[in-house]
Amino acid sequence: MRLPLLPALFLAGVTATVFAAPQPDAVETKVLPLVVVKAAHLVDPVSGQVLSNQAVVIEGDHVKAVVAAADLAKVVRPGASARVIDLGAATLLPGLIDCHTHVTSQPENFYEDIFRKSPIDEATTSHIYAKRTLEAGFTTIRNVGAGNYVDFALKRAIEAGKIPGPRILASGPALGSTGGHSDLNGMSPYVRFEGEIGGVADGVDAIRKKVRENVKYGADVIKFCATAGVLSEEESVGAPQYTLEEMKALVEEAAMWGRRVAAHAHGAEGIKRAIRAGVTSVEHASFIDDEGIALAKEHGTWLVMDIYNDDYILAEYSKMGYPDKIIAKEKLVGRTQRENFTKALKAGCKMAYGTDSGVYPHGWNGRQFFHLSNGA
Ligand code: ARG
Repeated sequence: MRLPLLPALFLAGVTATVFAAPQPDAVETKVLPLVVVKAAHLVDPVSGQVLSNQAVVIEGDHVKAVVAAADLAKVVRPGASARVIDLGAATLLPGLIDCHTHVTSQPENFYEDIFRKSPIDEATTSHIYAKRTLEAGFTTIRNVGAGNYVDFALKRAIEAGKIPGPRILASGPALGSTGGHSDLNGMSPYVRFEGEIGGVADGVDAIRKKVRENVKYGADVIKFCATAGVLSEEESVGAPQYTLEEMKALVEEAAMWGRRVAAHAHGAEGIKRAIRAGVTSVEHASFIDDEGIALAKEHGTWLVMDIYNDDYILAEYSKMGYPDKIIAKEKLVGRTQRENFTKALKAGCKMAYGTDSGVYPHGWNGRQFFHLSNGA
């Protein structure tokens, strides 16, 4: 006689359950490794206070609790095996965010960086900079500008746990006009960089296409250059480099793909165009005028002003072979940017911390705090 199907399955099920009995239990009681970090002080951004003698309890990958060290027993059951790291007099603080980085590169020598290096050099070394950034306490970065999609590859490797590094919001190549800050200028027209994936795009259609391409390959955010820059060889540092029409199309296209836009802008007119076009943030904002400040407030546009950079550029860039023309541009920008930072802050603009790391050595991202706390 054939056994009816259902009871047969039931029997098979029972047998399996008997032999496999310990397994479900083991899953439920799986103990995640516990780490307790103790320190004399802890910056608590929620209350805005610095607390004393705190302990951070980390379970697996997550912070489980932050408690007074004396109350540890309330969150870690007695007898639980935890690795305790006592940092003594140190101060703990949450992971920091740098909203403006270029983590894939770092300048060493003007001539060599341009003529002797290729995207392969960047791809080979960017993991070193990512690690330095993380070890400096920056657990999230918004990387606004990297050629050849090196930032996307770096981000993927970090997310897959292959290498240590911060969480990255990556833009890919920064869009910009021919001859603008996203282009390589000052060269003979016969100098070409074969196969380079950059961000140069002119006119509404080309801009839309470039936005789509960046999104296609991994952009979380779109970066473009609304005006000229310092570390490129254009004549004027503040001049606009896209029309309002181009900027509007760029922002509209980015929004269609659910992406926000960061605009590099030093000059007053370009800053205002970018704000009117609807960007989420203006980077640098050096020559922002009163009308620009009012517009930023009205539109809720974030300003990301890299006020530490001036120290490093003026101290180091001549030694690295940068042309005098570039140093002269920095001298025009640096002081005014700091004055306008204070002005915009006092006026109540939304300000985000962004440093332009990669202009100065990665891992020094915290140095800008000095200027924030001591007045720009
Ligand atoms: N990446 C920027 C540019 O080339 C750097 C400007 C740095 N100077 C400054 N004072 N923030 O335009």
